[in-house]
Amino acid sequence: MTQEIDKFVQELQEEMLRGYSEKLKDEFLNPQNLGKIEDSDSYVRVTGVCGDTVEMYLLVHDGVIRDIKFMTDGCGPTIACASYVARTAKGKTVEAALRVNPEDVDAYFDGLPEAHKHCATLSILTLRSAIENYRSKSARTGEKGESQGLAV
Ligand code: FES
Repeated sequence: MTQEIDKFVQELQEEMLRGYSEKLKDEFLNPQNLGKIEDSDSYVRVTGVCGDTVEMYLLVHDGVIRDIKFMTDGCGPTIACASYVARTAKGKTVEAALRVNPEDVDAYFDGLPEAHKHCATLSILTLRSAIENYRSKSARTGEKGESQGLAV
């Protein structure tokens, strides 16, 4: 019985990952920077066109993103895209992180499936929103940023 369940789960996983590049599968199955940051400098929650959400937390020091974490209720490609965006932004200045775009994410994954191109956009919009939120809040002395937004 256990073997049958294992086989069923394996077949289900293979079906779910059909059409994903190796890099996309790998990032989805081994996401980095997943989680929350207590007492972050910025927190945002952005809803994509499909209704899925990505949350992002930033720790920024001297204009550099020292730590970044994300959570999502979205699909596998969104987990992979947000993971890639988070690890790419980590260690960059906020200005450099703002230059990462959805096309970079798509190219890294050797082309996202057509139905999941927007997952890259959602991840990038969440990062940009988190940075903008950090900037607007840090302009006010010592205040932490927290906001919710709707991606368009
Ligand atoms: Fe909704 Fe990926 S973000 S399908």
